[in-house]
Amino acid sequence: MRKARTIFVCQSCGGQSPKWLGRCAECGTWNSMAEEVAAGLAVDASPDGVGGAAPVRLVDVPVQSTEVRYPTGIGELDRVLGGGLVVGSVTLIGGDPGIGKSTLLLQMADRLARNGRPVLYVSGEESIQQIRLRADRLDVGSDALWLLAETSVDRVIEAARLQAPQVLIVDSVQTLRSEALESSAGSVGQVRDVAGRLMASAKQTGTATFLVGHVTKDGAIAGPRVLEHIVDTVLYFEGEKGHPYRIIRTVKNRFGSTQEVGVFEMKGYGLAEVPNPSELFLAERSHGSSGSAIIASAEGTRPILVELQALVTHPAAGMPRRTANGIEPGRLGLLLAVLDKRVGLAVGGQDVFVNVAGGLCLEEPAADLGIAAAVASSWRDRVIDARTLVFGEIGLAGEIRAVPQAEIRLREAAGLGFTRCVLPKRNADRIGQPPLEMIGVENVHEALEVLGVR
Ligand code: TYD
Ligand code: MG
Repeated sequence: MRKARTIFVCQSCGGQSPKWLGRCAECGTWNSMAEEVAAGLAVDASPDGVGGAAPVRLVDVPVQSTEVRYPTGIGELDRVLGGGLVVGSVTLIGGDPGIGKSTLLLQMADRLARNGRPVLYVSGEESIQQIRLRADRLDVGSDALWLLAETSVDRVIEAARLQAPQVLIVDSVQTLRSEALESSAGSVGQVRDVAGRLMASAKQTGTATFLVGHVTKDGAIAGPRVLEHIVDTVLYFEGEKGHPYRIIRTVKNRFGSTQEVGVFEMKGYGLAEVPNPSELFLAERSHGSSGSAIIASAEGTRPILVELQALVTHPAAGMPRRTANGIEPGRLGLLLAVLDKRVGLAVGGQDVFVNVAGGLCLEEPAADLGIAAAVASSWRDRVIDARTLVFGEIGLAGEIRAVPQAEIRLREAAGLGFTRCVLPKRNADRIGQPPLEMIGVENVHEALEVLGVR
């Protein structure tokens, strides 16, 4: 194929150069120049009906029934996709190497193919023999599942055109190369061009496309972040080292809500869905020890009960240490300051470790009261009752603020045998018939008092 004219574009300031430079001549950033097809020659990645049309009045646009969707056959995956796979959509699945991306997609491919939807699985990483071995382990063997080991995006698109699968899987976007660019596979320019070409092809043919993207710490290889704005949906696969649980999280979705989570467990025969994550996350909880609080998080539409653990100790020497696993370190610092100033708990100078059991990441502020309670429980060395749930956002004045979806959190906890919940008073006041005893609180002081850890 004839090389398209390419230029090098600085990924931080947009400065251009006809040749590769180690340092951008405009902003001075090192190693920021990536090769791109020169403007005007770039592939058009716009979806159907975008570009070249005259403006129309909003009210004159015919209302079409919503996107055509179908289930993948894996419930936890359908949940994070927003209720199934959308025709012509492009989904990026990012995650650390070895987390289970290929495994999940091969399992999904088999379910789809068994339901009469032909799938083409393209691997630039493994030979088809290797995929066959993995497939045997996963008990995958549909005859509508096609494999291709290929690294040229042009040949992948051509193969997809001839094969006309309903779903195309590209594992991984970093191993594919576009011949329009000189740079090697995995560079920012290549990864973007490859994704752009596959996007254009998906929109033309209606083939739902999955792109695998390895998260890389090394700046030389482009990670999934550079693709987030190109694709329709971005899912991230997370999991703690040494734990079998895998959490898949929606961070962008043009066809559904974000913040949804799907939960899986890695087993010897592949990934198994975990329809009741609360039971799983509470299974290993530490009964009768201080520094443990159970909260109900409600990421997306699903409540999940998790244990928050804190350990507060005197610092061995020098600066106090802070370690936060599964919560934002900045949030922990803020909560410790509130405990210090508003409640008089002298935790500011102590070593504080906080951990969300099971490897879940909590992003919503409803976890605040749980964190504060676990820290206070450890510091005072008093145990919080095992059947008591806590949640609520904490403000800088130590006030407890209402959180969304209080009722579904309570119902989840009641279903798992909890009998009492300490929650924001504004939430409690609005719930008519609580499924368990509610104690509405207005500030942290009061909350810790009720929990017996003040
Ligand atoms: P993989 O899907 O290859 O990860 P990725 O594509 O994200 O790099 O998963 C590889 C890991 O999963 C590997 O450490 C082995 C483990 N695994 C199982 O535990 N059970 C299985 O059935 C399979 C296929 C893999
Ligand atoms: Mg893989």
